Amino acid sequence: MKVIVCSSYEELSKKAAEIFAQRILQKPNIILGLATGGTPVGTYKELIRLHNEHGLDFSQVVTFNLDEYVGLAPSHPQSYRYFMDKNLFDAINIKKENTHILSGTAEDVEAECASFEEKIASAGGIDLQVLGIGSNGHIAFNEPGTSRDCRTHVVNLAESTIQDNARFFDDPSEIPRQALTLGIGTIMEAREIILLASGQGKAQAIARSVERPITLAVPASALQVHPNTVFIIDQDAASQLKREYPQHSQDLEMPSYATKIQPKVL
Ligand code: GLP
Repeated sequence: MKVIVCSSYEELSKKAAEIFAQRILQKPNIILGLATGGTPVGTYKELIRLHNEHGLDFSQVVTFNLDEYVGLAPSHPQSYRYFMDKNLFDAINIKKENTHILSGTAEDVEAECASFEEKIASAGGIDLQVLGIGSNGHIAFNEPGTSRDCRTHVVNLAESTIQDNARFFDDPSEIPRQALTLGIGTIMEAREIILLASGQGKAQAIARSVERPITLAVPASALQVHPNTVFIIDQDAASQLKREYPQHSQDLEMPSYATKIQPKVL
C-alpha cells in the first residue's frame, strides 16, 4: 500500500483525477468502481473539467458503484443514483446504460446483490476502484466486524454511520438504516484501488488503517494486503500518522495525461 499526502483537498482531487484520466486513456473501455460521499466530489469535478476542456472520453467507460441505501428510489435526492447523475454522469459523455448502481428498492435485495456480482464478473472485473472511508474505518458500507471475504450484501448501518450521514437528511426519520454494499472480498478483487480521505475527522481511521495491524474492527485495514492500492489523503487526514510518506506524486511515475488528451474541437 502506498500513501501520498497532499497539501489540500484540491490537490488530492487533482491527483486522483489524473490517475483516472491516465487509466481511461490507456483503456478507453475501462471498468471503473465509483464511490459517493463528499470526498470524491472534487475528483469528479476535475474529471468533468478534463472532459469539457480536453475531451476526456467516457463513451466506452463502464461503471459500478459501491453501494446504495435500502428504500431510496433513484429519484430521491439522497439516493446514490441521484448523487452520481448530478455529480458526474449528467456532465460527461458516459452512456447511462453503462452505469450500474445497486437498486435500493429491489423487491428481492439478496437477488439484487447476487445479480450485481454477476454483472461485475461478466464485465471482466473492476480495473480501478475509488474508495472513501467512514470515520469508523468502513469502506463502502462494510462496517466494523464485516468479514474480509464477504461479497455484495445487505447491511445494517452502524450508529456512527447513521449519525455521519444525518446531515444530508432534513427529516431524521428518513435516514436509512440499511444499505446494499459491495463486499470487502469484491472490493479486494479490483485490480487497482485509490482510497481518498480528507479532514481531521478521518485522521484516526486513516492511522488505524495504515499503521496498525489488519483487523476486522477497521475494514479499510484489509487494503494493506492489496497489491496495488494508494491512499491519497490531505494533511489533516494524515495528521495521526507516525511514519513519513511522500508529499508528492513522484513515485507514481505519471506521464502527463493532459498532452495525450486531444483538445476538444469546438
Ligand atoms: C458513506 C459511503 C462510503 C463513503 C463514506 C464517507 O458511508 N457509503 O462509501 O466512503 O460515506 O463519506 P464522505 O466522503 O462524505 O466522508
